[in-house]
Amino acid sequence: MRADTYLHAAPLVSQPQRIKLPFLTPRTPASAEQHAVPARAVECSATSRRAAEDLVEGQPTRVSLFDEAIAVVRRPGQSTIAYVDRCPHRAAALSEGRLTASGNLQCSYHGWTFDEGGSCVSIPQVRDGAGAGGRACATALPCVDQQGIIWVCSTPGASPPMDTIVGLPELDREGWVSDDFVRDMPVDYTLLVENLVDPDHGLFAHQTPNFDSYAASSDHPMSVQSEPGRTSDKIVGRVDGVLKLTGKDEAAKSKALMGEKGSAQDIKSTLEFEPPCMVRWSRFDQEGKTSFITAFYAIPLGIGRSRLLIRYARSIAPWFKAPRWLFSMFLNGFLDQDTYLVASQQATTVGAELAAAQRMGLSSGPSDATAIGPAPDHSPPAGATGLQRRQLYCHRSPTDKLLLAVGQWLDDAVPHMPNRYRGLQGGHLAGAAAAALLLLPREVVLDRWECHTAICPSSRRAHSVLSTVRNTSGIAAAVAAVAVLSQLASGTQGLSSSTPW
Ligand code: FES
Ligand SMILES: [Fe+2]
Repeated sequence: MRADTYLHAAPLVSQPQRIKLPFLTPRTPASAEQHAVPARAVECSATSRRAAEDLVEGQPTRVSLFDEAIAVVRRPGQSTIAYVDRCPHRAAALSEGRLTASGNLQCSYHGWTFDEGGSCVSIPQVRDGAGAGGRACATALPCVDQQGIIWVCSTPGASPPMDTIVGLPELDREGWVSDDFVRDMPVDYTLLVENLVDPDHGLFAHQTPNFDSYAASSDHPMSVQSEPGRTSDKIVGRVDGVLKLTGKDEAAKSKALMGEKGSAQDIKSTLEFEPPCMVRWSRFDQEGKTSFITAFYAIPLGIGRSRLLIRYARSIAPWFKAPRWLFSMFLNGFLDQDTYLVASQQATTVGAELAAAQRMGLSSGPSDATAIGPAPDHSPPAGATGLQRRQLYCHRSPTDKLLLAVGQWLDDAVPHMPNRYRGLQGGHLAGAAAAALLLLPREVVLDRWECHTAICPSSRRAHSVLSTVRNTSGIAAAVAAVAVLSQLASGTQGLSSSTPW
């Protein structure tokens, strides 16, 4: 990669005022102190969008953002609520609590009860609510459901920053539908984002040719530019939608499937990174139309840990509806192919970032002890330089132009992430930061139950009924099999068999 080919992209992602608060990169000062990241997807059916499965209605669920535990509850007929997952009484997890008939959250340890604003409305052992104010309040966090994804804002009391949440405008149009997949990974958010804007790995890690139509080559360079996004400038890479290394004209087949017109050369494969957490892959015909988008949300659960939401959005009705668990099974197998490779990068890349932060004296002080509240001002001292991925890596492929631009955004933005350097203590690492540098055994990294089944209701249900069948014999097995089939037929969501690859 020649320096000048990168230079025109660099200024697009290096404006300090744009990156001061990267997890919103706000346009309006009013939202400058807020951070919003998606907490959990809820399922969208193929025919109508409905928040249904992933967050069981009425059941508090524990999620993690920036190494901070948060309790989220979707209330029947009322808005979704979220709290720092810590009861003010004796610090028990509020996510273990229960929803009352009036929609308040009751801690299940001693029964203290909190309304949606966090005010303590009942201490059962105290008459007339005496002592329920002040320190007896839970820390409520604003949250909002947008396009079937629950977003949590890490600034208590703030309004949900609707203008800063990334999404798919196409999903608001008539006829567009989507399906979701979710998986947790012991992989840092930064590495996940890089993986998602790197189509070069498809031929080798996944051994599938279709990534090739998103990659660049010497004959088909990629243009990388900044374009206005919903929350901040997006980094957009465009390349001819033909297969380059494989040399086959599979683009025609792909074009026919997607309803695109024109010659293969007219189709542009587009990869977009919309800060702070969304990557979308799509292909556009010469009229600028597309019928299929794959959106990836990289959610920073904490340092070295991410949740990946994949959303398939399309304007063409699926010809085959596979149950969600079956589709998840396929996709999990696909993601297994490179998750361990990405995990193997972590000790080097996150290690280099932490070392650079230590050199710059960015270790967190007491005010950074929680992710909740305004972001720490981690402005590097004058003249100090943090991690520079372009120096850590050896970029040579024409596709790396996009990786360089995204990498520079990460270099500038990540030091401002809440809690990022909480583990830096003097000359050594502690807690999550130290754990992030360990390469876990393959069977732990790819543990299917932990990374997927435990957080996907459809897969969990399928696992449960199939286990029942396996443990049953004779006539009982036949009865169970019928039950399985009827449950799976009625209790799963349809998914398209299409993938972007
Ligand atoms: S810890 Fe929650 S009520 Fe006691
Ligand atoms: Fe991959």
